[in-house]
Amino acid sequence: MPMPGSAGGLCSSPRAWGCGWNVTRLLCFAAISWVLVTQVEVGAWTYHYGNKSDYSWELARNFCRSFYTDLVAIQNQGEIAYLNSVLPRHRTYYWIGIRRRNDVWTWVGTNKALTKEAENWANREPNNKGKNQDCVEIYIKRDRDAGRWNDENCQKEKRALCYQASCQRFSCSQRGECVETIGNYACDCYPGFYGPECEHVVRCKNLDPGPDCSHPLGEFSYNSTCKFQCQEGFELQGLDTLQCLASGNWTAAAPECAAVKCPALATLGGGRLNCTHWHGDFTYNSSCAFSCETGFVLNGAETLECTALDNGQGVPVMLRV
Ligand SMILES: *[C@@H]1O[C@H](CO)[C@@H](O)[C@H](O)[C@H]1NC(C)=O
Ligand SMILES: *[C@@H]1O[C@H](CO)[C@@H](O)[C@H](O)[C@H]1NC(C)=O
Ligand SMILES: *[C@@H]1O[C@H](CO)[C@@H](O)[C@H](O)[C@H]1NC(C)=O
Ligand SMILES: *[C@@H]1O[C@H](CO)[C@@H](O)[C@H](O)[C@H]1NC(C)=O
Ligand SMILES: *[C@@H]1O[C@H](CO)[C@@H](O)[C@H](O)[C@H]1NC(C)=O
Repeated sequence: MPMPGSAGGLCSSPRAWGCGWNVTRLLCFAAISWVLVTQVEVGAWTYHYGNKSDYSWELARNFCRSFYTDLVAIQNQGEIAYLNSVLPRHRTYYWIGIRRRNDVWTWVGTNKALTKEAENWANREPNNKGKNQDCVEIYIKRDRDAGRWNDENCQKEKRALCYQASCQRFSCSQRGECVETIGNYACDCYPGFYGPECEHVVRCKNLDPGPDCSHPLGEFSYNSTCKFQCQEGFELQGLDTLQCLASGNWTAAAPECAAVKCPALATLGGGRLNCTHWHGDFTYNSSCAFSCETGFVLNGAETLECTALDNGQGVPVMLRV
């Protein structure tokens, strides 16, 4: 339920919506008169107006932006009905946060065009009567068209109808959507972030030392990127670059370096082969010594080594002597 109140009365009650929070309390004690909160489904916005003086639209907006968030942006019919029921009637009515820009009615807070569904013009409005009717007022408690809108000359002086949002520019560490709740806000964090203020970054498992990594948001965390390379004589099995995903998984398993393979060697009759293998049969750095049984001579190299390069060494043959 909405809880309207006057400045003194509302702020002296610690349980009153809208004044239970430091920032709001401060504003309640400012020269501005009157505070109330919308219904739950409208969000946590509190509405405020200046009752000291009336302003041109531009000054009204300055007023709202100085003391609150902005001129009101109206979200639905419930909100309109609510405003019309709780705001006092005022001779010149109230400015709201819509203005014509390049011939398009625009919500100034979001810079979004007013959609057909959201329109709430009074009968035969907007009529641009007398030209330059580029700003919008809301008729509060008017005999006809109460709660509906009218285009008006921006220089006319009216009450500023402001709202105060709990979400601020740096809420949610700018890593999430700030959602207004009752008297506060909640953060709907973007993928890769979590925590009440989205202050934490999702982590991936640490990788063994070796890869060349960049960590834009934190050690082995969301968006960290690691590049793998193998020493000479070894080939990468898998992807050479991994990225830490918002899920906390790497894009793939860490690749392995496997020794390059050379063609297997065999002896024909009359020879013997004595091989040393470091990384598997006939792979990089394997070394094989050939020797001949009695009655044969070796024709070619005595030992062969498997190297990183295919250097075209011929396999020796055993010749009968
Ligand atoms: C207007 O503000 C004054 C204080 O500046 C306050 O005494 C008065 O009650 C307010 N009027 C309304 C209608 O809220
Ligand atoms: C994460 O990286 C992607 C590109 O890979 C980039 O578009 C995005 O802005 C980065 N996110 C953050 C929060 O830095
Ligand atoms: C992350 O990896 C785990 C197991 O390693 C798996 O169960 C889970 O489905 C993965 N999540 C995503 C989003 O790929
Ligand atoms: C194979 O070579 C090693 C040394 O490289 C040697 O110790 C060993 O005795 C040799 N084996 C045979 C069967 O010749
Ligand atoms: C290659 O073999 C030599 C001996 O022939 C050894 O000292 C060296 O550690 C080996 N290197 C690799 C990478 O296996």
